[in-house]
Amino acid sequence: MPDAVELIRAKRDGARLSDGDIGWLIAAYTRGDIADEQMSALLMAVYFRGLDAGELQAWTDAMIGSGERLDLTGLSAPTTDKHSTGGVGDKVSLVLAPLVASCGAAVPQLSGRGLGHTGGTLDKLESIPGWRARLSNDEIVTVLRTVGCVICAAGDGLAPADRKLYALRDVTGTVESIPLIASSIMSKKIAEGTSSLVLDVKVGSGAFMPDLASARTLAQTMVRLGNGHGVRTSALLSRMDMPLGRAVGNAVEVEEAVATLRGEGPADLVAVTLALATEMLRLAGITADPGAALADGRALSSYRAMITAQGGDPDAPLPVAPHAEVVTAEQAGWMTALDARAVGVAAWRLGAGRARKEDPVSASAGVICLVKPGEPVEAGQPLLELRADDPARFERARAALAAAIGIGPHPPEPADPILERVPAGGPGLELAS
Ligand code: URA
Repeated sequence: MPDAVELIRAKRDGARLSDGDIGWLIAAYTRGDIADEQMSALLMAVYFRGLDAGELQAWTDAMIGSGERLDLTGLSAPTTDKHSTGGVGDKVSLVLAPLVASCGAAVPQLSGRGLGHTGGTLDKLESIPGWRARLSNDEIVTVLRTVGCVICAAGDGLAPADRKLYALRDVTGTVESIPLIASSIMSKKIAEGTSSLVLDVKVGSGAFMPDLASARTLAQTMVRLGNGHGVRTSALLSRMDMPLGRAVGNAVEVEEAVATLRGEGPADLVAVTLALATEMLRLAGITADPGAALADGRALSSYRAMITAQGGDPDAPLPVAPHAEVVTAEQAGWMTALDARAVGVAAWRLGAGRARKEDPVSASAGVICLVKPGEPVEAGQPLLELRADDPARFERARAALAAAIGIGPHPPEPADPILERVPAGGPGLELAS
């Protein structure tokens, strides 16, 4: 039987752990047989020493093996899913899942809640009266079979090792480790049972990975892990230096997603959604034009059917915040920057996000970006609308935005929201530290 202290020492000193050591470690920690302080030390050793490709494969295998694996093989349509590393105003899933389903795929989107300045898909959808995030495995399969897409909470049975490890990483400064992030995300997605997966790895101030090089390494590491586990996986790197679309919050993002499904979406959101849809359909082996499905209302019909199947009323009015204030332009010119992270923090302080997992979120709070980079502004023009349930929240939200807005004499160069593609067969990394 391996010994936890020996394994901590080995990793600390740069030795590699065997598959058996890793399997034992993850299983024993999940059972409660290894103390949090020992696992914390090991995670810190991994943070500094990394895991090589073989160790990472074994680590991910052990996380998947800690729980159940959904069986979606009985569905007639090919399964495909998307995971985003999270951003500000990122309501892509709400449009993408029904869009890809309307093109003939089955999309099992097991999603999470927001933490910190990035929003969570489930929090957004919960602003729809009656909508349920928690479904049983049987319900997931039924909604997939009848509607073609489902967006719901990952059940407690999927990768329980990750739940424990993530909570520990959160309080020990070990979240920002590429092998630990990659194994955490991929263990849940592989356990979910999808046959193919597209990763949307965000890059920029509002993202987990602020710089292109580390985002690329994370993307390559996850693509390699997915394909190594038999899930056809590719990745797009997309910009997250400004909010995606104009709405940041919960109900306000649902409204913008529905407008996009009606063909009235902002250009950046439409571009990212269509790029991901094209990639998902390619991996699923389906020839279809997602642009046509968005334009002719098929995607909107799938969205309405999905909301209804999960107990929601797609026609119910969404909650509206009782208080609003605007941030105005100090000078005329062109908006050159709108910092994604600052806007995310402002929305969070307005009540749209949570500081701790158990905190409630406001359905109606958030930020509306009335002007985006590349657009002209007049002095005194409203640039952002802040919405809150409690007016006491405005002051701290404004403080977050103090340096968020750039206005200059010339418009910025237009930039493609998609930065790079990491194909399914692309090069992976030997060492992910
Ligand atoms: N999201 C996850 O699921 N896990 C991580 O480690 C980071 C982001």
